[in-house]
Order: sequence, then C-alpha cells, then structure tokens
Amino acid sequence: QTPLIIAIDGPAASGKGTLARRLAANLGLRHLDTGLTYRATAHRLLQHGLPLENLSAAETAARQVDLHDLDRTTLSQHEIGEAASKIAVMPSVRRILVDKQREFASAMPGAVLDGRDIGTVVCPQAKVKLYVTAAAPVRARRRHEELLAKNGSDDFDAILADIERRDARDMARDDSPLRPAVDAYLLDTSQMDIEAAFSAAKVIINDAL
Ligand code: C5P
Repeated sequence: QTPLIIAIDGPAASGKGTLARRLAANLGLRHLDTGLTYRATAHRLLQHGLPLENLSAAETAARQVDLHDLDRTTLSQHEIGEAASKIAVMPSVRRILVDKQREFASAMPGAVLDGRDIGTVVCPQAKVKLYVTAAAPVRARRRHEELLAKNGSDDFDAILADIERRDARDMARDDSPLRPAVDAYLLDTSQMDIEAAFSAAKVIINDAL
C-alpha cells in the first residue's frame, strides 16, 4: 500500500491553501502548507536580525524548522511572505525543506500538500495534481478583503503590486520555478467562490482515483 498524495500548486493568494485544507479533511488525509516551511525559515532569520542573503544562517534556520510546530497566524504576515520568497531561491535551503516535506508526504494514509513545486519537484509521483490560479486582481481583491476584515484598512494597489512581484520572483527562479506540472489539472478560480472550487476539485479527484 502506498500513501495517497495530492499536490496543489499555484501563485500567491490563489486560494490553494483553503482548498487543500478542505480536501484533506474531506478525504481523511493530513495536510501540509509547504509555504509555511519557507516562511518559518525566513521568520527565524528576521527574528535574529540576520540578513536574508546569509546562506549558512538560512540553511541552519531551515534545518531547525519543525513541521509539527508551524504557527500560521504569526507566519501569515505579509513581510514574512516577501522574505520567504527571497530565501526560496536558494537551492540548498530548498533541499533541506523538500526532504522534510517528502517525509511528511510519505506517511500513511497520505497527504495533501500545497505550494509552488509539489507536482513538479516534491512529489512528482502524486496521484492527483491541481494547479490553482486566478487573475492577479482577483487574488489581490480576496487578500484585500481578508486584511480589511482583520485590520480595518489596507491598500489594494500595494497588495496587488506585492502579489505580482512575488509571483514574478517565484516563476523566474532557476531552482523549482512556479509552473504547472505537465500532468496537472488547471483550475482557474477567477469566477469561483471556495464552494465552487471545492466541488470542481472533488470532481477531478474522484475521476482520477
Ligand atoms: O504560499 P506562501 O505564500 O505561504 O509561500 C511563501 C513563499 O514561499 C512563496 O512566495 C515562495 O517563494 C515560497 N514557496 C516555495 N515553494 C513552495 C512553497 C512556498 O518556493 N513549495
């Protein structure tokens, strides 16, 4: 018996995290948001006042990341996401985190992993691969509404610019760039709410299993 692995990739604020969590609960699988591993690494460097370009410090921080102790609330801060995408270009840092992610994925009964390179690099053997996207202004609007609900204010144009900059960095890097695996199903959620995205994903997964 092999673990059932579902890979969900896509750009920032595409809704892949929410979708992954719901699918995992629905299918009785564990869930890992791999973005949190890059965020936790960057957060350690920021906390210690270390420059993000310090490779050996970044490797040490990556080794110290504990997959079972990732605080989503702290790590969801927007400056941490920006810093995460900077350290995510370092191949040695990626190798350390990818090893941990693969170990998580390989335990029974399986898992849903979401990120940027799950279908292409981390788990190319995944049973089902989804590539979740939405137009950048739609993703910025969703993130904006989320932040408004939390903080009462936020600048839409700044959010859109951040999302576009982070996507460009993630797509342009040499090691594990963000792109759909050749065998991934594309799910464009520009016109869908989470319910519709969940139903569409379930149809794809049920067909594939
Ligand atoms: O998904 P999230 O916004 O939390 O990811 C933060 C950053 O971590 C991304 O912008 C990306 O640079 C990096 N990342 C990655 N590979 C993954 C997950 C995240 O490079 N599998």
